[in-house]
Amino acid sequence: MNLIGIDELDKSKISEIFSFSDKFRRGSLHESMLGKKLALFFEKPSTRTRVSFESAMLDMSGSAIYLDSHNLQLSRGETYEDTARTLSSYVDIIAARMYRHEDLKTLAGNSSAPVINALTDMEHPCQALSDFYTIRRHTDSEPASVKLAFIGDTDSNMAHSLALAGAMLGYNICLVGPKQAKPSSHYLNVESFSGSIQFQTDIRKGLKDADFVYTDTYVSMGQESEAESRKKLFAPYQLNARVMSFAKKDAMAMHCLPAHRGEEVTKEVINGENSLIWEQVKNKKIVGGGILAYLASR
Ligand code: CP
Ligand code: NVA
Repeated sequence: MNLIGIDELDKSKISEIFSFSDKFRRGSLHESMLGKKLALFFEKPSTRTRVSFESAMLDMSGSAIYLDSHNLQLSRGETYEDTARTLSSYVDIIAARMYRHEDLKTLAGNSSAPVINALTDMEHPCQALSDFYTIRRHTDSEPASVKLAFIGDTDSNMAHSLALAGAMLGYNICLVGPKQAKPSSHYLNVESFSGSIQFQTDIRKGLKDADFVYTDTYVSMGQESEAESRKKLFAPYQLNARVMSFAKKDAMAMHCLPAHRGEEVTKEVINGENSLIWEQVKNKKIVGGGILAYLASR
């Protein structure tokens, strides 16, 4: 089994990942990766995803090998197909951060080891799973009575994965951004899920009754050449104290990081009492460990 996109999962698989995460958090998976090797194949930079996976693997008595794609033969034209066949004959799991989601699918299609999406242009499923683990630990309310509003670049990897994972788990998700960033119907028409996904351009309406307000950068990795126009487009959707006041009084602010203070989020919000950001950071390793243990158990 791979973890390429949220739509390969279902509620019971996510709940299994969360129960492995709980076990990992309690320290009861100490030897579960003994003798196992994880390859961390990265085409883009990473602080949290890379180090949390590596650290989780070590805590479970396994080992991790970091592979910067620039130093592989890929950089000299070797194919993803041959790279996947080769790597998977040496390691037990591959976590890959890639520019193109299609390339990740090619890698997974040619790997004999499970492949984890550690972020592509389309999805960031591990981050979304760990964020709903954080939400679940923060509130006792049933998902059906919890609303998460994502404000900013609503057609980004983060928005896509949060919307799909949230609705799959039964939460009410509202994507709040400019009409140019309305995601495709794949991320909006999810009738088979128990939760809901809406798209809203009006900030007040979108944040009304929100329990959690999430944002992410306006300029994702790989979009640097469009930086100026993207900053202009999304500027009205900055997560600041005024915008937080449209949500519930005790609403919590979330961000996957890295943050750009003064752009998509203000430092008051990110450092404020109602910020869940450092809990997200902690849980990223917990759920990273849970995902690895879950995949290794199948
Ligand atoms: N949130 C996240 O994926 O961070 P990194 O880019 O540092 O891995
Ligand atoms: N949307 C961001 C997420 C970073 C974790 C990016 O792709 O750069």
